[in-house]
Amino acid sequence: MKNVRILLSAFVLMSVMQSCKDKNNLEEVVAVPEPQKIEAAPLGNPDDVKADEGAFQLAKLGYAYDALAPNIDAKTMEIHYSKHYLKYTNELNKAIKGTDLEKKTIEEIFATLDMENKPVRNNGGGYYNHTMFWEVMAPNGATAPKGALAEAINKDFGSFENFKTQFSEAATKQFGSGWAWLVLDKTGKLVIGSTSNQDNPLMPNVSISGKPVLALDVWEHAYYLNYQNKRPDYITAFFNVINWDVVGKKYDAALVK
Ligand SMILES: [Fe+2]
Repeated sequence: MKNVRILLSAFVLMSVMQSCKDKNNLEEVVAVPEPQKIEAAPLGNPDDVKADEGAFQLAKLGYAYDALAPNIDAKTMEIHYSKHYLKYTNELNKAIKGTDLEKKTIEEIFATLDMENKPVRNNGGGYYNHTMFWEVMAPNGATAPKGALAEAINKDFGSFENFKTQFSEAATKQFGSGWAWLVLDKTGKLVIGSTSNQDNPLMPNVSISGKPVLALDVWEHAYYLNYQNKRPDYITAFFNVINWDVVGKKYDAALVK
């Protein structure tokens, strides 16, 4: 009988040990899952993105989502264009539907904008600023301005390098979300500045006024996936993808308008 009790005790002890062992193994499995292969979702086509019916429609991106990589990564471009830009455009259309603004150009809307009209201010700005942003970038663009714009930059900033430093500084120091700008002011001079949120230099009573020729989005959604908090690195990379031919044409057009 004594032997039977010893055998039973040993059996119970082994069962408990096995249970603990299994439990530990289970916990390990739960705590340290097998590495999973995360398949990169295939990129969409920017031409497939359409705004809802309304006065304003999306500008074509003009290049693939991955065309600016590694300076601006494909996923950031896709989310930025197909989600953020689309939303601003749709919300702008909703905000002006049935009003006189529906028949105006975006520049005309800004010229007499009531800054208390937040839906038009924010979404109109979001529409205009991003439309310009896509346009002033391109893969393998010229690395520096030329022609009249190059001359004006040298005249108003001393050199291209000085301009680059000042523009980068404006973009870096813009607190929170906003944009950095190069504009032609009403005296015919090029000036650099920044605006908050989706404001821009065509709106009344903002910190910089004039005709925009270059815009840089410094909202976190424009760079956070690839650069996290390193906004200055994103700004440096932006200079690798500026489409100086387009910026030059915008400057020429601003001179004659
Ligand atoms: Fe943006």
